Amino acid sequence: MLAKVMSCAVVGLEGAIVEVEVDISPGLPSFTIVGLPDAAVQEARERVRAAIRNSGCTFPMKRIVVNLAPADLKKAGPAYDLPIAVGILLSSEQIYADASQTIFLGELSLDGSLRHTNGVLPMVALAYKEGFFTIIAPDADAKEASLIEGAKIIPITSLPQLVSYFRGEIPAPEYKPDEAEDYAPPAPTTADLAYIKGQEHVKRALEVAAAGGHNIIMCGPPGSGKTLLSRSLASILPPMTTDEALEVTKIYSVSGLLPSDTPLIRERPFRAPHYTISNAGLVGGGHWPRPGEISLSHHGVLFLDELPEFGHAVLEVLRQPLEDKRVTISRAQGSVTFPANFMLVGAMNPCPCGYYGDPFRPCTCPPSLVSRYRRRISGPFIDRVDIFVEVPHIDYEKLTDDRLGEKSDKAQARVKAARSIQRKRFQGTRLTCNTEMTPSEVREFCQLEESGHSLLKAAMKQLYLSARAFHRILKLARTIADLENTDIIKAHQLAEAIQYRPRQLV
Ligand SMILES: Nc1ncnc2c1ncn2[C@@H]1O[C@H](COP(=O)(O)OP(=O)(O)OP(=O)(O)O)[C@@H](O)[C@H]1O
Ligand SMILES: [Mg+2]
Repeated sequence: MLAKVMSCAVVGLEGAIVEVEVDISPGLPSFTIVGLPDAAVQEARERVRAAIRNSGCTFPMKRIVVNLAPADLKKAGPAYDLPIAVGILLSSEQIYADASQTIFLGELSLDGSLRHTNGVLPMVALAYKEGFFTIIAPDADAKEASLIEGAKIIPITSLPQLVSYFRGEIPAPEYKPDEAEDYAPPAPTTADLAYIKGQEHVKRALEVAAAGGHNIIMCGPPGSGKTLLSRSLASILPPMTTDEALEVTKIYSVSGLLPSDTPLIRERPFRAPHYTISNAGLVGGGHWPRPGEISLSHHGVLFLDELPEFGHAVLEVLRQPLEDKRVTISRAQGSVTFPANFMLVGAMNPCPCGYYGDPFRPCTCPPSLVSRYRRRISGPFIDRVDIFVEVPHIDYEKLTDDRLGEKSDKAQARVKAARSIQRKRFQGTRLTCNTEMTPSEVREFCQLEESGHSLLKAAMKQLYLSARAFHRILKLARTIADLENTDIIKAHQLAEAIQYRPRQLV
């Protein structure tokens, strides 16, 4: 007899409906899975066989063929265990149910219990969009699945429980959200700007960067506080909107990095990969493309500490995603696109010994070493940076000053206000902040006051700015103007933006 059960696959970050057809016919006992399954799906045969036996049911000793349709879509991972098991039980008439409008997801363990499955959020989102409102998912993933409003989630802990439910022996298990847990306040951040002495101009630059989502690179001698300042950026970034949070959660769900107690990621990601990272680790990749660090920092911060140590090749792969805000990875089976709208924050020393240009301590590097060190960061990479700020050595008086600086929440309030201006400006478009503007939007929204034009013209000539730098300066000036809530960009705001322009490092 033939049975059909619906399930879901994840392609990139999106779901795709998969129909699991099970046919049991008389003949020599065999169990075949067709429809481009990968090794994990093939292994489902062993898990399903043991799980059915250990759940008090009978595994039919007949010829079993499982087809995963559409046949041209590659199927990966263990999420098909449950639909295959249900298909076999339906087909062998051990249970009776109309499963045509229900989506089944979940990995089985040999004793029949259901395990956590990656990518539940994108799969439930697609199922709901396609009109499948009932989803049977592992109990461990019910919280994540329930983020899709309106979907009816039936959390299942084991195959025997599901069999009893289908046989009418128990009522449908229901997911009860734990409200108190859902609205837990975010953990306090330890890196408050108030505890960082001096470096006021760097704090200002960080505030501007946070307000418009701009890239920033900090350069200075060892121990001047670059790493400390970068980490404190998380404390002034505005909270994510619900849509942004859902997007980020999808990425973490597909990557298997979603903590089981945090169904929805509410805090902006802050990723700080070590400089030994590979290209694939940074932009994403693998046989089945998985999101890399740039996608894991979507809507958040990608912090590259000791920037030149990342090496020329790794930094070059960032060039395209820095412009496009997404990355497309092509493999023989097809290509997938992951979002990568991140804020790049870099920290670096000016030379290998760290004291090049320091007024107090001489640099001991030969000039050729300095230029080789700086050449690791190419011109095109530097051209994509909005803010370049020097972090000088901090002296005794400032460091021992007991007065606390301004707290992060004050700076965050200004950032939030600037972001809300941007949200209003970009209402109805896909843009969220100033850094994402394309040249046409720059022309529309970045109006300069009269004296600004001559200033910009002079800067273009003297600093030999590229067309990209021209647009980037205007976008940055727009953010500085938003922080002061002015509609037309004033000359002093433009001047501040120009002064952040990276010096040519190469
Ligand atoms: N402005 C500051 N206020 C208070 N403490 C500071 C400041 N700058 C540095 N420190 C202290 O120095 C330590 C080292 O700072 P940090 O790691 O940020 O330096 P860095 O600039 O990243 O150095 P490196 O170039 O070696 O990586 C901090 O953990 C902190 O204790
Ligand atoms: Mg450091």
